[in-house]
Amino acid sequence: MRALVTGVAGFIGSHVADGLLRQGWDVMGIDDLSGGTMVNVPKDAKFINRDVGLDLDDLMAEFQPKVVYHLAAYAAEGLSHHIPVFNYQNNIVATANVLASAYRHGAKHFVFTSSIAAYGHPRKSNSDAGGPQRERLTEDDVCSPCDPYGIAKLACEHHIQAFFDYYGGPTYTIIRPHNVFGPKQNVSDPYRNVVGIFIRQAISGQPMTIFGDGQQTRSFSYIDSVAQCIAASGWTEAAKNQTFNVGGDEPMSVIELAKRVCETVGVDENIQHLAPRQEVLHAHADHKKAHQLFPEIHRSPVSIQAGLKATVQHVTENEIPTPTHCPSAIEIKDKLPPLWRDGA
Ligand SMILES: NC(=O)c1ccc[n+]([C@@H]2O[C@H](COP(=O)([O-])OP(=O)(O)OC[C@H]3O[C@@H](n4cnc5c(N)ncnc54)[C@H](O)[C@@H]3O)[C@@H](O)[C@H]2O)c1
Repeated sequence: MRALVTGVAGFIGSHVADGLLRQGWDVMGIDDLSGGTMVNVPKDAKFINRDVGLDLDDLMAEFQPKVVYHLAAYAAEGLSHHIPVFNYQNNIVATANVLASAYRHGAKHFVFTSSIAAYGHPRKSNSDAGGPQRERLTEDDVCSPCDPYGIAKLACEHHIQAFFDYYGGPTYTIIRPHNVFGPKQNVSDPYRNVVGIFIRQAISGQPMTIFGDGQQTRSFSYIDSVAQCIAASGWTEAAKNQTFNVGGDEPMSVIELAKRVCETVGVDENIQHLAPRQEVLHAHADHKKAHQLFPEIHRSPVSIQAGLKATVQHVTENEIPTPTHCPSAIEIKDKLPPLWRDGA
């Protein structure tokens, strides 16, 4: 079976490609290396360096993928307020381009990584005081995204569904991961992924920067089962034309995460609180649907602590990549957190 993976040099895309190769699939990966690195690309995948917003017809015609996994995106959610035009081109326009080209060349199935950001602020009962042990976001909840990144992901979901309704194919699977971390993640992107940022800061002896008091909570998700669910969506009949959450079930505050990272790296706590930024306070997803669709994969997810250990080990055994920069100029500088003003 032939699969095309966009974003193959990135964190999740490289793990998905690994999973497909383990299944014996032929994999072509596309990435423009704006955020990913060649070190991540599995050696048995055919690699093409290209922006997925550009014409892909030559590649699709040559490779004729049966399944397209579309993961390429610049996923800096907080920064997306400040780069809205770039965000919509990179997410919505590029997704429409990949899907149209896939369809023209006979792809049968399209797997798309959306995000928990598509939900936006959780329902009121969810965001009130009471800590993280509250209702979790389910796939039936009304989506009301509150930043350009979430808006783009939801627009992509609607586009993929409407495309199927109109053309009768490709079938699709839409996955909404959240706060994924693990080996091969980019720890040098100053704008995103708090686990990676904390690990880099701890290892390099810098203070760990937290927006606000750090009481905001997330369920940080170790990469293993996330990538396996995404890969398996290409051959799991029950996942066709489905949208589902995937990720961890263990709520943790950001301040607690910072402490755990310090412990794991073996450094003293050195935390610097910054002015709070506008963000969802508590975001947790329900995974009943993913458990039903992929019971084998979800049986024993890796704990945050064990995941941190594996991630820190990977980072320390490998060269820390040079910091990646936002691939766009900042479009709106108002309200830009000072930390991000000089390219962080
Ligand atoms: N990491 C998470 O916690 C998380 C959560 C929810 C959703 N997602 C989604 O999963 C996908 C993968 O995220 P990730 O964490 O692996 O990010 P990542 O930055 O590690 O990987 C994304 C890859 O896409 C590439 N890319 C970006 N724009 C491109 C373009 N126009 N053309 C070609 N390549 C391009 C980058 O170079 C990078 O290698 C994204 O769509 C992201 O929105 C991630």
